[in-house]
Order: sequence, then structure tokens, then C-alpha cells
Amino acid sequence: MNMMASSDLSGAVFCLLRDLIHGRFGVYYASDRCEILADRLQPLLAAYGAQSFLDYYYLLKEGDARAWRDVAAALAVNETYFWREFDAIDVLVKTWVPRWQAERAQRPVRIWSAGCATGEEPYTIAIALDMAHRYLYGPIEIWASDVNAEALARAREGRYRARSLRLLPPEVRKRYFEKEDETWWRLRSMIRDRVNFQVINLFDHNGLRGLPLFDAIFCRNVFIYFSEEAIATVVEDMTELLQPEGCLFLGAAESLFRIPHHLRLIDMGGASIYQKRRPLKERRAAVENKAVADHVDRRR
Ligand SMILES: C[S@@+](CC[C@H](N)C(=O)[O-])C[C@H]1O[C@@H](n2cnc3c(N)ncnc32)[C@H](O)[C@@H]1O
Repeated sequence: MNMMASSDLSGAVFCLLRDLIHGRFGVYYASDRCEILADRLQPLLAAYGAQSFLDYYYLLKEGDARAWRDVAAALAVNETYFWREFDAIDVLVKTWVPRWQAERAQRPVRIWSAGCATGEEPYTIAIALDMAHRYLYGPIEIWASDVNAEALARAREGRYRARSLRLLPPEVRKRYFEKEDETWWRLRSMIRDRVNFQVINLFDHNGLRGLPLFDAIFCRNVFIYFSEEAIATVVEDMTELLQPEGCLFLGAAESLFRIPHHLRLIDMGGASIYQKRRPLKERRAAVENKAVADHVDRRR
């Protein structure tokens, strides 16, 4: 811990920086995390020639994309690994994707891993879909994004240490990875090529506007440091980006309790999934069609 930095960053300057960062990324540093923020930003002060956190605040306030890209990298908690919280991915692959492929053969199933860090989550999805032969049944697009461009560069490379692969069943590791040396394993291109990575700040409302609609959005272990207000904003944008009946998957320990939203919570195989409702008109039509079908059945 850098005592100099933490004592430098206190009181009013901490609040200024905290609010600036919250406004940009949705991530909120409560006052008991002041030292952590100071430690993470300290190397950037020197790199940008700022003599104090106040100088650095003004620099960031006028900040160009590069300054903010460096903040995103400095603040990121990139902990992730293959097969993490796999139950939800299993539900996606075995239940949702077959259903969508059967119902909507004419268009691709589109999945988005939002806040994917170094790529283990979207690649796990891509592997699981391959193992279930789902690519044979129709086109599937896998989008993956993070605000941290450095993490995404590593994701595109697809090289991982054994630590990242610790939960992978050995036969899966053997089939989808090549061992490069004692330290590194490289994911085979047949899976790497299935994922489309992009830098996206989830708290950038205008930036999200250009995205297409998704059948499933995974946003797991991302909201941990967001304020409730920021989570509500991002969930509202994500709801707009979901197809009717599309699903938002959160982390196993995360919920939208206390967060205003318009999604329906469903429990499937132990995974908490938030589903977008069909528009009211369509739901009414479905109820009416069912009533007519039941009536015809009874008369037979
Ligand atoms: C702990 S990782 C989660 C990785 C993966 N989803 C998982 O569950 O294993 C959290 C990621 O959220 C990203 N993140 C934080 N704030 C973000 C924002 N405003 N927009 C996009 N990504 C963000 C961080 O850069 C980090 O890579």
C-alpha cells in the first residue's frame, strides 16, 4: 500500500475523483475504499506528470480517450476463469439455444458476454456450444466486450495459464487447447474465431445504441462495484437490447433485488435468469390462441 498516495487522496479530492469515475463507468468507490482507489491511480499520476490527485482530477476531467483507457485498466478486477459458474452456461446451451434455434430458424442466435475481462466466459460458452453440436443447427453469434482494452487484447490472443484452466475437464482441455510450453496454453482457432470482441463501456448509453438485439446477455460479476443507480441504468439499457423472451444472466451471487427493472426472474437449474417479457399484445394473442385451440380440442 502506498501511504503517501492514500493520505494525499482524501476528503474533497477523493469525492471529486470518485464522482468523476462513477459518472464515467458506473463503478462506485465508497469512502472505505479510498486507499484502494489511491493505490490503483497512483502509477498514473507519475505517467501523466500530475503532481497531486487534484492535478490528476483536472487532467482526467478534460481527459482524452487514452487517459480514460488507462483508468479502466488500472481499476479493473479481471478475475475470471474457464468453466466459472458453469451451471448457467449449461442451461443456456441445453435449454435456451435449442429452443431459440427451433423457433427462429431464420435468424442467428446472438449471445453477448458483457464485461468479459480476458475472455474466459465467452470462450467457455463457445466451447460448450461446440460440445453440444449447436453450430450444426443454425448460425450463432457470440459477442464479447469489456471496458478494459488491455484485457481484450489478451482475450483475442487466447493464451492462458494453467490457473485459468483449473476447472476444465481434462478431455475438454485436450480437445480445445494446445500446450505451448510449461506456462501457456493456447485456445484453438476453431473456438477463438467464433467470438467477436469489442471495447464497450456498459455505462455509455450512447455507445450501446449501435448494438443489435441479443437473445442472451451474460453480465456476471461485473455489477459488484457498481452503485445501485448505475446498475439500474445499465439493466434498463440491456432490457432494451434483449429480444422479447431474451434472457439476462447475472453471477450466481448477484440479484436485482432493490433494483427497479421490468424483467421476470426465473429459476432454471439453480441459475438465476432474468427474462424479458413478450409485448402485452403478443401475450394476449397467445392466450387467445390457446383458448381457441383448447375449445377445438374439447369439441373433438
Ligand atoms: C471480474 S470481471 C468478470 C469477468 C466475467 N464476466 C466472469 O464472470 O468471469 C469484471 C469485468 O467487468 C469490467 N467492467 C467494469 N466496469 C465496466 C464497465 N463500465 N463497462 C464494461 N466493463 C466493465 C472490468 O473491466 C472487468 O474486466
